[in-house]
Amino acid sequence: MSALTESVELVVSVEPEIARLMGEHRDRRQHWYAHDVVPWELGRSFRDEPWNESQATLSPEVRTALQLNLLTEDNLPYYHAKINGSFAEDSPMAEWSRLWTAEEGQHSIAIRNYLLATRNCDPTLLEDERLATMTKGWRYDSPCPVEVFAYTSAQELATRISHRNAGVKADCEIAHEVMTRVAVDENHHFMFYRGVTTAMLKQAPTKVLEAIHRVLLDFRMPGTGIPNFNRRAVSIARAGIYNLRIHAEQVVQPLLRHWRIDALEGLDARAAEIQEKILAIPEALISQAEAFEARLTKKDARAAARA
Ligand SMILES: [Fe+2]
Ligand SMILES: [Fe+2]
Repeated sequence: MSALTESVELVVSVEPEIARLMGEHRDRRQHWYAHDVVPWELGRSFRDEPWNESQATLSPEVRTALQLNLLTEDNLPYYHAKINGSFAEDSPMAEWSRLWTAEEGQHSIAIRNYLLATRNCDPTLLEDERLATMTKGWRYDSPCPVEVFAYTSAQELATRISHRNAGVKADCEIAHEVMTRVAVDENHHFMFYRGVTTAMLKQAPTKVLEAIHRVLLDFRMPGTGIPNFNRRAVSIARAGIYNLRIHAEQVVQPLLRHWRIDALEGLDARAAEIQEKILAIPEALISQAEAFEARLTKKDARAAARA
C-alpha cells in the first residue's frame, strides 16, 4: 500500500472521532456578528476626506500586525481548496471544511471593517496588497492528509495567539473586542484539529509522528507570500505579538505536551528516532529566539548610541 493510501485510510479510520469533535465544536462555537463589534459610527467617507497616516489611532506595530493577519485571512480560498481537496466529497471532513470556511470568512470581514471604519490602514494600499497576495496564492506541497491536521493544529494555535496579542497590544477596547472574537474562533478550530491528530496518533503513531516532525521542523505561517512579509514579521516579533520564543513556548511545547510525545511507548525504532527529533525542536527554536533577541538588543544599543 502506498504511503498516501495509508494516510487516507488512517483519516477514514478516525471518522467517528471527527464527527464527534465536529459535534462538540457546534455546541461550543459562539455565534457572533461582525457588525455588532465594528464601530461603524466612526466611519467617514474616503472620497470626501482622503486617508492620511495622521488619522490612524493604533501604533504602527499593531497596525502592521492587524494588516498582516488580515491579508493572511484574505487568502482563505486557497486554504479551503487545500483542506476540502484533501478529503472525499461525502466525508465528515468535507462537511467540516465548509463549516470551518464559513467561520473563517467572518475574520477578514471583521478585521477589514474595523481597520477601514477607524482609519487604521491606507485603504488603497490595503486593496493593492490584497490583490498582490491573492494573485500570488498559497500552496502547501505535501499531499499527505495526515499532515493537514498536524499543520492546522500548529497554525490555528499560532493564529489564535497572534490575533489575541495584537488585540491586547492595540490598547483600544474595540480592537481588543474584535480580535478576541476572532481568536476565540481560532481556538475552537485549533481544538478540533488537535483532537483529530490525537486520535490518529493512538491509531498509527509512526505515521503521525512523521507528519508532526515534518510540520514542526520548519513551520511556516501561511502568510509568507504577503508583500514585505519579512519586514512586517520582524516588527511584529519586536512588539512581542508573535515571535520565535512565543512559537516555541506557546505553540510547539504545549502541543508536544498535549500529545504526550515524550511518553509514547512501544514505538518501533523508526518512530522512536522521530520522537527524539521532535522533542529536540523546542530547544532549537529557543536558541534561534535567543540569537534573534541578542541581535535586536545590539541593534537597539547602536541606535541609542547614535541618538
Ligand atoms: Fe481566521
Ligand atoms: Fe484559523
